[in-house]
Amino acid sequence: MTLEPCSHFGKTPPCADLIIKHNFKKVVICNLDPFEKVAGRGIEKLKEAGIEVESGCLESFGRYLNRRFFCFHEKKRPFIVLKWAESKDGFIGKKEEQVWLTNQISKQLVHLWRAEEAAILVGKNTALLDNPELTIRESAGKNPLRVLVDKNLAVPSDSKIYNNKSNTIVLNSFKTKQEHNIDYIKIDFEKNIPVQVGKVCFNQNITSIIIEGGANTLQQFVDSNLWDEARVFSTEKELQNGIKKPLFDGKIERIENLENDTLNIYSNTKA
Ligand SMILES: NC(=O)c1ccc[n+]([C@@H]2O[C@H](COP(=O)([O-])OP(=O)(O)OC[C@H]3O[C@@H](n4cnc5c(N)ncnc54)[C@H](OP(=O)(O)O)[C@@H]3O)[C@@H](O)[C@H]2O)c1
Repeated sequence: MTLEPCSHFGKTPPCADLIIKHNFKKVVICNLDPFEKVAGRGIEKLKEAGIEVESGCLESFGRYLNRRFFCFHEKKRPFIVLKWAESKDGFIGKKEEQVWLTNQISKQLVHLWRAEEAAILVGKNTALLDNPELTIRESAGKNPLRVLVDKNLAVPSDSKIYNNKSNTIVLNSFKTKQEHNIDYIKIDFEKNIPVQVGKVCFNQNITSIIIEGGANTLQQFVDSNLWDEARVFSTEKELQNGIKKPLFDGKIERIENLENDTLNIYSNTKA
């Protein structure tokens, strides 16, 4: 097992009880569960029932597989993935017009990633200029909860980000109010925004979030050191001018060629 079996009643009965019921002789575990209601009690329960338990096997691999869960419980914030595409000359977009940088394979991959995270966030300018729906259309899976940072509620109500394909949280400076599928939450724009995003997500049990831009929003997460993975598509298109790509410092973990796009995956070693 990657994670210690639970010993408490949550959404389901304790996994440890099920293992005992089925007379397992030995259980091998990668990691102890950091969740306070478990934290070693699952292992204790198995041992008390006479089951041999070996823990700490492939520990770092287990932590990687369950990285969202560990981040949420240990750091009390969601696992944060930054994602953007950049032109060969270092821009992510233009100020006045929507530009598409990546190819179809990259687009499909992004939709798959959306299905893997609990929530997806964009800044106001991106919502206004690109009018993104932020749903999964090129892959299968559950649409993530959408999060929009819009201080002055400038994004029109008929924008795709508000449609009924998913629910949307709007972090704003005016109101905290639930209206149909939209959950307006007032935050303090004088204070750090990514920190407040982390708190809102933690309170709503959102274990992971993908930040899909734009540059200003992404840079705020980088500058606050609130990110875990960055997935950057380098493309062959040149824009000559526009909105500069975010600047960050990460450890390259993987490079993949997706036809004429290159995907670079970084981890944040300082998180
Ligand atoms: N290539 C990609 O992967 C990708 C992905 C997404 C978006 N984009 C492109 O990125 C562009 C939008 O990026 P963006 O950085 O302008 O906006 P953004 O990150 O979408 O939104 C910026 C937010 O930050 C606030 N802000 C504070 N200071 C700012 C400043 N000096 N400049 C801009 N916003 C500031 C704004 O809020 P208030 O005004 O309410 O204070 C706004 O909500 C678009 O061209 C879009 O097409 C590219």
